[in-house]
Amino acid sequence: MIKPHGSSTLNPLYVQDAAKRNALLAEAKTLPKVLISSAAAGNAVMLGSGYFNPLTGFMNKADSLSVSEKMKTTKGLFWPVPILNVVKDASMLKGSKRIALLDPNVPGNPILAIQTVEAIETYTEAEMKFMSEKIFRTLDLEHPGVQAFNSVGNVGIAGPIEVLNFSYFESEFPETFRTAYQIRDEMKKLGWEKVVAFQTRNPMHRAHEELCKMALEGEKADGCLIHMLLGKLKPGDIPADVRDAAIRKMVELYFPPNTALITGYGFDMLYAGPREAVLHAVFRQNCGCTHLIVGRDHAGVGSYYGPFDAQKIFHDDVPQGALEIKIFEADHTAFSKKLGRVVMMNSVPDHGKDDFVMLSGTKVRTMLAAGQALPPEFARPEVAKILMEYYQREAAAEKKGN
Ligand code: ADX
Repeated sequence: MIKPHGSSTLNPLYVQDAAKRNALLAEAKTLPKVLISSAAAGNAVMLGSGYFNPLTGFMNKADSLSVSEKMKTTKGLFWPVPILNVVKDASMLKGSKRIALLDPNVPGNPILAIQTVEAIETYTEAEMKFMSEKIFRTLDLEHPGVQAFNSVGNVGIAGPIEVLNFSYFESEFPETFRTAYQIRDEMKKLGWEKVVAFQTRNPMHRAHEELCKMALEGEKADGCLIHMLLGKLKPGDIPADVRDAAIRKMVELYFPPNTALITGYGFDMLYAGPREAVLHAVFRQNCGCTHLIVGRDHAGVGSYYGPFDAQKIFHDDVPQGALEIKIFEADHTAFSKKLGRVVMMNSVPDHGKDDFVMLSGTKVRTMLAAGQALPPEFARPEVAKILMEYYQREAAAEKKGN
């Protein structure tokens, strides 16, 4: 199986030994406590899961600035976005060697991890701007990622962590949440060597389904890891439980048996387009995938990125040999009325715009909320039904609220 990023074996930071975990929990109760941001909690869950191998904890300022600028830590490790634990105020931690990190996403704010404090550093306004600009390519606070990045504070707490649980992901998504080492184990059991990963934060329509099948076929892969984001999204995106149900239905009905694994990871969406695509590649390598599908507007939002910027970054800015995982590049896929199947648009130069079935996200939402069926060329009817029920529940709740 493909090696993890930056080390020969995977080093997840979740404390797997129950006795050790209990001892750390007892210690944590005696330590100074910090309620961390949702983004930092997501980082802790990813570090715990082994997805952020070989990092051992939260980055310090020198590494964060270096990673932002050149996708490399000060020691030369290739890494695309800073992994931060940033708070508004850390004055109460002065002199503390070890601290307990409290989970903001679970009622009662239980202890998520213990951090050994190596540095507490304030980021200046210029440094925050520098990082935002490099990661998101914009400073616009209307960008949901920039907004989230700049709303949690500017005091970075750096140092290694020991992760004690997987926040709400394990309990809310028991069938879907998986760590990198669980995925490696599962793929080993299945005998999968060549695996294409499909990143998603959306339900999967025909275009997505066919994209996975094209990648499976094109790479002659053993299987496809459908790997969905289970953390926070911007308002208007479809919640993970609905997406999960829709994707499971699609795979059950339309994928050949034993060709897809449906899984998810616990992280909030950054909407950082190209940089997030590179992070996606790093953590798919860590869970053992040999290829990552990168299509149109991967991890994008609004019109902040060009439709294929997330492919371009792998050619322009990822040094040769920095990653072992390969990118399966996809052009815009859509259903061709002429051919009666989903195609990559650049493979049919004789087609005009009207030869494809295309619907905007807004149009899809409006139709589903109004109870109108989506064209079967665009969405599988069984998938559309699950989405329609969700939108109608939402519309009814909104009506009741007004
Ligand atoms: S993402 O933010 O997680 O990337 P989404 O779930 O919409 O969003 O996309 C998942 C993957 O499918 C990404 O690689 C994206 O580029 C690709 N994709 C989505 N729709 C299309 C499409 N119509 N044509 C080509 N690629 C697509």
